[in-house]
Amino acid sequence: MHLLHSELSLSVILYLLERAEYMKKIKTGTMLKDKIMTTIFYEPSTRTKCSFQADMLRLGGSIIDINVDQSSVQKGETLEDTIRTVSCYSDAIVLRHPRKSAVTDAAKVTEIPIINAGDGVGEHPTQALLDLFTIKNELGLGSMTITMVGDLKNGRTVHSLAKLLTRFCGIRLIYISPKELSMPNDIVEYLNPFIEQRTDVSLEDAIKVTDVLYVTRIQKERETCEYEPYAITPELLKSAKKKMIVMHPLPRQSELPPDLDDDPRAAYFRQVENGLYMRMAILDYVVKKF
Ligand code: NCD
Repeated sequence: MHLLHSELSLSVILYLLERAEYMKKIKTGTMLKDKIMTTIFYEPSTRTKCSFQADMLRLGGSIIDINVDQSSVQKGETLEDTIRTVSCYSDAIVLRHPRKSAVTDAAKVTEIPIINAGDGVGEHPTQALLDLFTIKNELGLGSMTITMVGDLKNGRTVHSLAKLLTRFCGIRLIYISPKELSMPNDIVEYLNPFIEQRTDVSLEDAIKVTDVLYVTRIQKERETCEYEPYAITPELLKSAKKKMIVMHPLPRQSELPPDLDDDPRAAYFRQVENGLYMRMAILDYVVKKF
């Protein structure tokens, strides 16, 4: 089974949430003994690549990491040929690529499970699943207001999370971004039948009613214009609920100043740890399904 986007059924999502909880308890296992996972990242990564690699090792398997700067990609090999080749060596491929839909295209030439680790401005489904796992652990999955702040146009994590949230009831979304960086229309339309989405609320007003503040960085590598990021300061959080959380997929820039880190509502490093358990669950699921 491939994992290419976050349009998953509720039963698969609930299964993965339960399995991630289980992985959090056991921390290591032997479920993927003798299995090999290959990571191919055409864009930089710290958390996504390392957590997948740590997970494979924690589950008893082995890893191959293709360094695209040193591989036949430099001789002009196509993505498809690289995938065909690596498929002979692996039981799962984790792929990140700068082009939207590149991972979906790659999946067409292999039977081996492919996991989308981010495809340009497209999707980042494993991040969305770990985000959901974090929300569930921190607040439960009841009715709530989630405010997404920052670069909603280019930030693939918010695209995937927003889509995933359509499977749950009682979610209200507030989008806060520069006009030029607003949530793409196709996603707004996908969400429309399921979720109330608002764009007419200021950050100062939104913060008072927000349960999850999901902050993203301006994706400078994908934008030609310079934008002033929204800064989530301790001052701003004074008017937030006592029981709410601040999330961020990381890496952060000035939008999340480090003096926020000691606030118990700052959940972004707990979010990183949750990624480990959710990706263990995902790997185990896709490899076994195959
Ligand atoms: C995100 C990404 O790569 O999309 N990072 C991540 O995977 N945790 C967010 C970002 O780069 O801004």
